[in-house]
Amino acid sequence: PSLHMDAQDGLIFEGVPLQTIASQMGTPCWVMGAGTLRRRTRNLRKAFTERGLGMSIHYALKANDHLATLAVLRQEGCGADIVSGGELRRACQAGIHPGDIVFSGVGKTDAELNLALQEDIGQINVESAEELRRLSRLATAAGAVARVALRVNPHVDADTHDKISTGRLGDKFGIDWAEAPALYREGCALPGLEMIGLATHIGSQILTAAPFRAAYARIAEMVIGLRQEGLPVHAVDCGGGLGIRYRDELAPPPSILAGAIAETLGSLDLRLAIEPGRWIAAPAGVLLTSVIGLKAQREGISDFAIVDAAMNDLARPSLYDSWHGMIPLAPDLAYAETAPLSVVGPVCESSDVFARDRALPPLRPDDRIAILDTGAYGAVMSSTYNARPRAAQVMVENGAWEVITPRQRLESLWADDSIPEWLGAG
Ligand code: LLP
Repeated sequence: PSLHMDAQDGLIFEGVPLQTIASQMGTPCWVMGAGTLRRRTRNLRKAFTERGLGMSIHYALKANDHLATLAVLRQEGCGADIVSGGELRRACQAGIHPGDIVFSGVGKTDAELNLALQEDIGQINVESAEELRRLSRLATAAGAVARVALRVNPHVDADTHDKISTGRLGDKFGIDWAEAPALYREGCALPGLEMIGLATHIGSQILTAAPFRAAYARIAEMVIGLRQEGLPVHAVDCGGGLGIRYRDELAPPPSILAGAIAETLGSLDLRLAIEPGRWIAAPAGVLLTSVIGLKAQREGISDFAIVDAAMNDLARPSLYDSWHGMIPLAPDLAYAETAPLSVVGPVCESSDVFARDRALPPLRPDDRIAILDTGAYGAVMSSTYNARPRAAQVMVENGAWEVITPRQRLESLWADDSIPEWLGAG
């Protein structure tokens, strides 16, 4: 509904012809749809209300931390899940109330924990015994009280890409579930800490209910056990991870997640929260790129379409072999006959490939395409490799559009470089 093809104006995103943006901004250019962000957040929330679950949404900043994205999500009532001091500062900068911020992450420095204490954020998800004791010391020294949840590694295989699984035995994340109760007990006795509950997050782009249910069942058991000891457990943070349809996956609707939570944790009188990133943001963004040129290959091998976006802009295909839909912006190409093409970027790495043997209409130089579902883990993961400045970003909503980040100036790439004095001027 937010993307459609118009016979005259070509591909339209939230009422704005993408050709207009590409012409005025040049490519590559990211486009974020505020209306899509809103609609998805509301749909997600609705799934929980329909199950009678009160649910806080702490949007995972790492998926897309642009201030404009955060402003929209703050308006939609989201808090933030952060993993660094930088993300904490960003969330505050976007006006998200510190009480609505949860700090996750496997390696928090003293400086980051002190910042969290100083801002008095809502919750810190502690991931090791060492971190728990260190946080107790820092909070005591600062005369503060940290609200703590233990992030439990439930040893559940999320059945997703290896590089985005986080809840298995041997993954670096969370506290071994068998050790968590003893540590919770210890936390309750340590100064400077208020133990409020448990957290878990087993991975990303999860497409079935079973891993969620298995993880939450384990957490529910732990909640009951801790309470039987007389320990306070008020909150459970159910993590993120809900997958989306990139290609032809049967992505579960949010009601599946709501069901898994309701059935396991729903009757335990807990404050519940989730930390979604991808589900909210991925379908709300596209990356516009133009064809630089074509390179014919021998019979039996797909020709290359070389585009002006690359793995430094969108890293996902090169990192995870991820599949992203591609739609030409021009209306005359939309219904043309397709043939297999491989779409590649100009970066000097063989992994700089966006699509192999993809059925696409006959692209010509300067034709533009939208790479879909790039609103999450897109711009945030870009680099300036090959001295390629970061692409511009635009936000659209209701037929209006505005630049939210200009294309990076080339000079800024070396603005902070300096040459050691001993090398001299010559
Ligand atoms: N909470 C925690 C503690 C996380 O580590 C993550 C993601 C999330 C929430 C949000 O997960 P989501 O709802 O977005 O699945 N760059 C990879 C994804 C890495 C996800 C890392 N953690 C990709 O492009 O697929």
